[in-house]
Amino acid sequence: MGQNLILNMNDKGFNVVAYNRTTSKVDDFLANEAKGTKIQGAHSIQELCQKLKAPRKVILLVKAGQPVDDFIAQLVPHLEKGDLIIDGGNSHFPDTERRAKELAAKGLLFVGSGVSGGEEGARHGPSLMPGGSPEAWPLIKDIFQATAAKTKDGEACCDWVGEGGSGHYVKMVHNGIEYGDMQVLAEAYSLLKDILKLSHDEMGQIFEEWNNDVLDSFLIEITRDILKFKDTDGSPLVEKIRDAAGQKGTGKWTAISALDMGTPVTLIGEAVFARCLSSLKDERVAASKILKGPEGVTFSGDKKAFIEDIKQAVYASKIISYAQGFMQLREAAREHNWNLNYAEIALMWRGGCIIRSAFLGDITNAFRKNKDLKNLLLDEFFTKAIHKAMPSYRRVVSQASLLGVPVPCLSTALSFYDGYRSAKVPANLLQAQRDYFGAHTYELDTQPGTWVHTNWTGRGGRVASSTYQV
Ligand code: 6PG
Repeated sequence: MGQNLILNMNDKGFNVVAYNRTTSKVDDFLANEAKGTKIQGAHSIQELCQKLKAPRKVILLVKAGQPVDDFIAQLVPHLEKGDLIIDGGNSHFPDTERRAKELAAKGLLFVGSGVSGGEEGARHGPSLMPGGSPEAWPLIKDIFQATAAKTKDGEACCDWVGEGGSGHYVKMVHNGIEYGDMQVLAEAYSLLKDILKLSHDEMGQIFEEWNNDVLDSFLIEITRDILKFKDTDGSPLVEKIRDAAGQKGTGKWTAISALDMGTPVTLIGEAVFARCLSSLKDERVAASKILKGPEGVTFSGDKKAFIEDIKQAVYASKIISYAQGFMQLREAAREHNWNLNYAEIALMWRGGCIIRSAFLGDITNAFRKNKDLKNLLLDEFFTKAIHKAMPSYRRVVSQASLLGVPVPCLSTALSFYDGYRSAKVPANLLQAQRDYFGAHTYELDTQPGTWVHTNWTGRGGRVASSTYQV
């Protein structure tokens, strides 16, 4: 990925020096991919820093965690005040906040930048989400915006996110949404295969059609290709892959942060748990021989209509997932004092990254129309879209449930929607239960802010416990 980003920056006319601690890799790169370019190589960190013009801009693309700290420690002695270190890995945002503070104390600038799009993106235009020392932005703006992907209208999928760890936070939420999108598509595949019994070519064709409409996106595109892909024996390769999903942690961090802030980001949380459940492969195989699902029931409806229902369910759940993702960003901005621009964030994700889609253009429009939009679901375009999709969405979740096909993300997002649109939810009973067994007190609906305790049994005391919220 580092090599591709270097080649991309060189194509845009910037002078780049490549360094890798395995110096033979630098020589190999210069003799092959970088041959005939202006790219220079360095065999030591000292040489790298000598070859760069001040203020130096050094971008690290190393594994998140200790390797980033180790690299920074090696770089610092060779840098001068005003130089800039950029971490382009998937670092956890609290680490980025800490590094920005530590380096500021040394007079150095620091940027934690989300970089999305994999190898391809790095070469031809990634989505870049930089945040950190505000003085760093003018130093890298031209390089980053020239290197980044562009939308159809020529806008760069890169802008300044904000201070501290905000760039890496936005990338983390991008990855959480990526987990959600992928799981929803996996559920759609399972519905098409297990309920409608479609062949892989038929499924591939459906994804192809979906890609020409509101679901137009990179993940739909690659799913189409994966479904159509045949192994050397002519059978679909996807069916030979063990159904146990891996994860590097960014989805989990997103869910943990949402829980920490008390933001109901249910679809991403469920997508992480779905990966966890998938990885219990041996346990599931054993349980499948004991635990029964619905028996003797098969789908008897109109196949074509149900395929359209699944498409609508995917679209509606996606609207809910992004609404939740932006709720999380809004809460994080409040908590960390970041001034996030949601329209620009949607634009940064519009091209280059893994969740790139036409749909993100609609989100940019919604936030450009109203930058204080409280929830994406309340934007007129999305309210209409979700109302239209709802009958289909409900049919899909109920069919899946009746036939025993797991759709964790589709169903959790539907429940969130029904909860969010309810003026009254049953939490009054929870409050009564808390007060009953623990004298935790409750508020009366007519008097919010006034805390009351009831002696529910006549045996409890009159004294309420002190109340607090986490
Ligand atoms: C990207 C991706 C990338 C991440 C993969 C793998 O934006 O280019 O998000 O950063 O490495 O998504 O993540 P998991 O291994 O956790 O699925």
